[in-house]
Amino acid sequence: MIARYRPPVPGLLLGSLAAISLLLAACQGSRPPAQPSPTPTLPHLSTPTLSPSPTPTLAPSPTPALSPSPTTAAPTIATPADPASLISGDEAYRHVLALADDIGSRTAGSEAEAAAADYIAGQLASYGYDATLEPFEMNLYVEPESALEVLSPEPVSLEPRALRLSAAGDATGELTAAGLGGPQDFPAEGITGRVALLERGELNFSDKVANAAAAGAVAVIIYNDEEGAFRGDLEEESSIPAVGVSQAEGQRLLALLAEEPVTVLLSVQGGSPRTETSRNVVARPPDGRCEEVVAAHYDSVEAGPGANDNASGTAVLLETARVLAASGDGEGVCFVAFGAEEVGLFGSRSFVDGLSADERQALRGMVNVDMVGVGDQWQLFGSEGLVQDVDGEAASLGLDPAPAEAPTGLSSDYRSFMDAGIPAVLIHRVDDPRYHSSEDKAQFVKPQALQEAAELTLLTLRLLGQP
Ligand code: BES
Ligand code: ZN
Repeated sequence: MIARYRPPVPGLLLGSLAAISLLLAACQGSRPPAQPSPTPTLPHLSTPTLSPSPTPTLAPSPTPALSPSPTTAAPTIATPADPASLISGDEAYRHVLALADDIGSRTAGSEAEAAAADYIAGQLASYGYDATLEPFEMNLYVEPESALEVLSPEPVSLEPRALRLSAAGDATGELTAAGLGGPQDFPAEGITGRVALLERGELNFSDKVANAAAAGAVAVIIYNDEEGAFRGDLEEESSIPAVGVSQAEGQRLLALLAEEPVTVLLSVQGGSPRTETSRNVVARPPDGRCEEVVAAHYDSVEAGPGANDNASGTAVLLETARVLAASGDGEGVCFVAFGAEEVGLFGSRSFVDGLSADERQALRGMVNVDMVGVGDQWQLFGSEGLVQDVDGEAASLGLDPAPAEAPTGLSSDYRSFMDAGIPAVLIHRVDDPRYHSSEDKAQFVKPQALQEAAELTLLTLRLLGQP
């Protein structure tokens, strides 16, 4: 799977020799022959004037640049160094503060997500990259607001969840229990103007709701046939509002109904599909072709500031970009911060869909950095060969990651690349107790973990063919 692997030492040696000869040339007052631009060793970098940081005030760096900026250094005294030696966990951590503390929750399509994109583009530009925002559209389904009140014989508030694709609307009516909702379960005279109470099971939700509507019902309540709440999916939009309730709430309604008539008010509001815009932040080489992609999603869930998920990975992406620029390495590497991962991998799907056949061919692999600041154990998911190679070499960094199957139901942007046949690896740290919660805060992210994640990222790039 690995296209080519060059051991680090000879490359470093060559780099050092090049540095020495450049220094000698500088001391002798002569310029080396091939110096066409101010950034000869960094063909993927833009000129400094192109991309001023749009958000300089967001996160003032506590540590001044550790190494000369590639766009300001005099070319003749450039000192190529091993990029790994330039990594600073503290420098990366300030991005976590900027994204999670200063900007906060960065839900897909929100203004905060857009502000985060500007921040990332600004940082990449400050390292000398030509960073662009690449917008894309996404179709989101927003779960509707729903309510269910018993009006008589006594007021009771229940906790319904609208079925996906339920019609919106308010309905008031007397309740009629009609078993599982098969056609034969409804009274022959119909239930015109009434609300059907049905048990989950046997028939699919769409058939139950259609049968109730055919019998004249104005709304449907389906209670679970096992413990707990649920959210059912309809196959297509229903003609009447339909909600699900827990088994306990269903039994409560049945018990009331056994005593006397029950009138309910049911309401489903919103929930229609809507289209939102998000954007990827992309730094490409001038020829636009990526040989390797370093990627992290920068959006978060609504619940919290997404410090570990995934300001941490974004910070590592930026730090990797910084050290590769500073060392003069990283030719052919693209840095891509994905939007809208948390609502369905939209950013990475859009990026992969946008690759031409040639670009796809040129792309050797992708490193996905996601949730790398909390927990104690490194884990690697993804393409088998690549995962094995990174695992095999990680000991050279003093690290011992565990290759693993991705936990069921959990996903990240590396999947979009694997689905397109591009080798990809997810670098991840296990067990964040604050995953997707309001407590996913910067204070729990460890700079040392960011440092190690950046080292693993550089290692993976080398395995994919970077010198
Ligand atoms: N970072 C998580 C995924 C993750 C969690 C990977 C734990 C490995 C271990 C990611 O941001 C996430 O929550 N993804 C969603 C994606 C889905 C909406 C396509 C998920 O897995 O539920
Ligand atoms: Zn994530």
